[in-house]
This record gives sequence, structure tokens and C-alpha cells, in this order.
Amino acid sequence: MAAQSTARRQRVRKQLKKLGVDALLVTNFANVTYLSGFTGDDSYLLLTRDRDVLISDPRYTTQLEEECPGLELEIRQPGTSMTAGVAKVAGSTGGTKIAVEADSMTLALSEALAAALPKAELVSTRGVVEEMREVKDADEIVLIREAIHQAERAFGVLRATLRPEQTEREVCTELEYQLRRFGATGASFPPIIAVGARAALPHARPTDQKINESDFVLVDWGANGKLYKSDLTRVLVTGKISPKLERVYGVVLKSQLAGIAAIRPGATCHEVDAAARDVIAKAGFGSKFGHGLGHGIGLDIHEGPRLGRNNQTVLKPGMVVTVEPGIYLPGWGGVRIEDDVLVTKTGHEVLTSVAKELPDMVVG
Ligand code: GLY
Ligand code: MN
Ligand code: MN
Repeated sequence: MAAQSTARRQRVRKQLKKLGVDALLVTNFANVTYLSGFTGDDSYLLLTRDRDVLISDPRYTTQLEEECPGLELEIRQPGTSMTAGVAKVAGSTGGTKIAVEADSMTLALSEALAAALPKAELVSTRGVVEEMREVKDADEIVLIREAIHQAERAFGVLRATLRPEQTEREVCTELEYQLRRFGATGASFPPIIAVGARAALPHARPTDQKINESDFVLVDWGANGKLYKSDLTRVLVTGKISPKLERVYGVVLKSQLAGIAAIRPGATCHEVDAAARDVIAKAGFGSKFGHGLGHGIGLDIHEGPRLGRNNQTVLKPGMVVTVEPGIYLPGWGGVRIEDDVLVTKTGHEVLTSVAKELPDMVVG
């Protein structure tokens, strides 16, 4: 991990030259983890052209020594602000142009930094580290596979033990427990358990609605493994398959398969989104699919690249994206099917393996 982090920081250093800045202050905690191996928070990383310094506080001293051996630390003492810590390091490097991460820097932090470093010029940047994170290396892919495996095993137990009188909340609690049982540190996001009409809300929160109050339940869940995340959605049939469910489910599955088939190096995110969206539009449900087709997963549950309209980002081997079309019909319900897909050198590999044909979704 230490060697990997060092190599990643070297790549950022090359970017500093291109950006014409003396340093980059990394304030996004996932980016700090990516570049240092440190898994705590409340810590920033200052990368200059010849130094890397992690600025943290005494709560993390031991953890930092374990997780980032060899990395220079600035442990600010109680009563010393984070910005004072940054100024102490930046001041001693002689850097005058400091790139900051506009997406994670608050206005308050920006003002405090400007006050602490009156001679420095803060240069707003976006996506410097996030773009590197979009392409996963072999170790990251192993960790994503692990998080998928944990999620799939948890879902297997959930499905086998699902009872009609359970509420969405109870199913959610059970799923979170099973995720931990299979090695996850927890869910990668609050699971969505949405019975019948509630599945028309793409981000429904679990309620006291019971499983037996409808014919189907949408489950959107994932595991937080060793930092890396998984993200899946399936619709379980707990009653009868109505003609409407059969129709909507069939369109969503066809759309998802078309989206997956379009994934290969060189394809744009827009093209992949369009391949899936066209199927839904042609079936007359275009206005009922109101979100992008998918997103990258990794240290964050939602990261780049985003599979969406007008996104001309080109897919590269090593990217891992979700493919999750949906049709949402208020008052009736919704269907979304979501898998995690790796872009390979020659095309793609679907990393998730939970069955998704409609007859397979019927629970006993
Ligand atoms: N869990 C939210 C999503 O699928 O993106
Ligand atoms: Mn999801
Ligand atoms: Mn997702």
C-alpha cells in the first residue's frame, strides 16, 4: 500500500508541473486515503514539488504510523487550527501558488487559508485526484470484487429468510447485519428497501410498510469492504407477476443488457447511457427514467465516470461503473436493475452475479 501511495503521489506531482502550481492541498478525505493509505479523517495532505506532508492531529498519530510508514507528518497540537498546520508546512516549503480542491473546500476554509497564508495564491482546481481514481489498478479491482462478494452473500441470506410480515425497516436492519456477518464494515450506503408503490421513489427510505402489502420489493444495497464499495439493485417478487410488472421488468432488463453491451474502451459515457435509454424511450417510458444510467464506484459509492447524457468522458480499461436503468411509475412502483461492470481491454466484465431474469426473482 505504501509503495502504491508513493507512486500515486508521484503522478500528482507531474500534474502540479502541468498546472503551474507549487503545491496541491488535498482536502477531500477519499483523495487523502487514495494518496496516503490513511483511513481516518480530519486530515489533509499537502503535496509540494519535493515534499509530501500529512497534516493531522494527535488522535491519529498511532494509526498514521501504522498506515503510512515513511510519510512525513505534521501533527498539530490541541489549540492549533488545521489552517495553522497547513500554513506551517506550506510556509516552510516556499510554495506560493497552492492548488486547492474546489469540490471539497468550503468558503470558510478558503478564507481561513487565505488569512493564514497571505502571500500564497490559492488556485482552484477540480478533479485532479478524482480523475486518477476513475481507473482502478489490479489491487483496487480485487477489493471491489470482495465488496461485491460480501453484498451478494448477504443478499442470498436475506432472500432465503425473507418473511411476508417483515417491514422495510426490519429487512434493512437484517441486510445491514448480514453484510457485516460476511466481512463488510457495513453497508456502502443506507440500503433502499421499497415495497410496491414505494419503489417509485428512486431513493426511498425504509418505512414500516410490510413485504406482504405488495407483489414486489426493490432492494438497492452494497457492501463497504476494505474501503472499496459495491452497489447492486434487484426487484424480488413476493406475490404474483402482474402483466404490468412483467412488461416494465422486461423493458428495464432489456435496457440494462443494452447498456452493458455498449461498455468497452473508447465508448463515451453518453453512448452507453443512450444505448440503455433508447430501449426505455422506444417502449414509451422515456419520461419515467429520470436519472443517469450509472456511476463509478470505488472509495466513494458515487464517483466518476458518470454514465449520463452529454458526458463525453471516454471509457478506459480499469474503470468500474454501475449500470442501473429504472422505470418509476408513481402510485404503482418502480423497477431498477443494477450491476457493477469492469471495463476491460477488450470490452467489459460484469462483476456482479446475482440472477436477474424475472422468473429467478420470485421468492418462495
Ligand atoms: N444506491 C444508489 C445508487 O444506486 O446509486
Ligand atoms: Mn444502488
Ligand atoms: Mn448506483
